[in-house]
Amino acid sequence: MQLKPQLSKLFKFCALVCLLFVMTGCRFNMRDQPRYEALEGSAFFEDGRASRQMIEDTVARDNLRTDEHFYTGQIDGVPVETFPFPVTKEVLTRGQQRFDIFCAPCHGRIGDGNGMIVQRGFKQPFSFHIDRLRDASPGYFYGAITNGFGAMPIYATRIPPEDRWAIVAYIKALQLSQNAALADVPETELENLENQ
Ligand code: HEC
Repeated sequence: MQLKPQLSKLFKFCALVCLLFVMTGCRFNMRDQPRYEALEGSAFFEDGRASRQMIEDTVARDNLRTDEHFYTGQIDGVPVETFPFPVTKEVLTRGQQRFDIFCAPCHGRIGDGNGMIVQRGFKQPFSFHIDRLRDASPGYFYGAITNGFGAMPIYATRIPPEDRWAIVAYIKALQLSQNAALADVPETELENLENQ
């Protein structure tokens, strides 16, 4: 009578131990599989590479980046002076939102280089409102986002090209806004300003 509960305990214990072996066994096997990392060397193929070259005449799908202006912000190595698509109100609104998420933590909401991370000790970037950067081309800003700039990280993997251009458009608008004279305000808007 006394034996039964003890036996079942023993069974449970054995099952647990077996399960443990199976689980750890599986994990190690999966982890230690013999396989090549991308672009690793290999003695197996004649050319010494583990990765195979594309077959000739392979057709690129979605990733054929022939539009140099749009993807690199440069033409023949020179930063472009123009945007690859029309800058509309929607583009600016999108740019403002993306700027506030990705850039303002360091560059500040108005681009003065005094964001919260800088206030906490990160290297301070130049204000976007100095003459050199006010004169800088859209392609220059696009390049900094795409390739990083000194202490600033690369954003190419985090911000798609369309959004990068939207951010650049918003920075250009920010630059205008911080350096505008009353004469720049359209007459229709002037009344609104005076009423405020
Ligand atoms: C983590 C902080 C940080 C973030 C986030 C950041 N930057 Fe920067 N950025 C810097 C710093 C610091 C520099 C100056 C780097 C240096 O001189 O080493 C810089 C430099 C630049 C420059 C070059 C300025 C010059 O003096 O020529 C541009 C343009 C720029 N950033 C744009 C952006 C944009 C656009 C974003 C958002 C997509 C962004 N940065 C996000 C910190 C940041």
